Amino acid sequence: MNIAIYPGSFDPITNGHLDIITRGAKIYDKLIVAVLVNVDKNCLFSIEERVELIKRVTKDIKNVEVLSFDGLLVDFAKLHNSKVILKGLRTMSDFEYEFQMALMNSKLDSEIETVFMMTSSAYSYVSSSSVKQVAKFGGNINGLVPDELILEVKKKFN
Ligand code: PNS
Repeated sequence: MNIAIYPGSFDPITNGHLDIITRGAKIYDKLIVAVLVNVDKNCLFSIEERVELIKRVTKDIKNVEVLSFDGLLVDFAKLHNSKVILKGLRTMSDFEYEFQMALMNSKLDSEIETVFMMTSSAYSYVSSSSVKQVAKFGGNINGLVPDELILEVKKKFN
């Protein structure tokens, strides 16, 4: 079985993430969304909330599993019998950061490949941090996060 890991902070999951998950689930037998616990990063949503929100919006994609992880991503991948880390690429600035991480992960475990998927153009400007910034100041986040999560994000700033 060809299993891929799609890692991230997902604070919160955006339509850009969901696009990669949907497309990734079509080309791998199983896609594990790996949510970084991130103890040292100030997250808007707790790890339990981030996992629950992703489960909610991916419930109809049968081969997607959502799990949290801490520590090294390559160790998590090995634990789950995966040799593929799937990442979405938006811009050149993403590339520099992602290239560095891919090389580091390859140094840590040369058996694991990082595979990049281009973000759909409709979402190339969408990031969790920009969504939070817009929501914080009362802007419209329709179309940026899945519809069923709009209220969840807005509630955090009330
Ligand atoms: O959505 P993000 O915050 O850009 O995701 C970053 C993530 C979770 C992919 C990255 O921080 C990660 O893989 N962390 C685990 C620690 C690790 O394995 N580090 C070594 C590679 S640089």
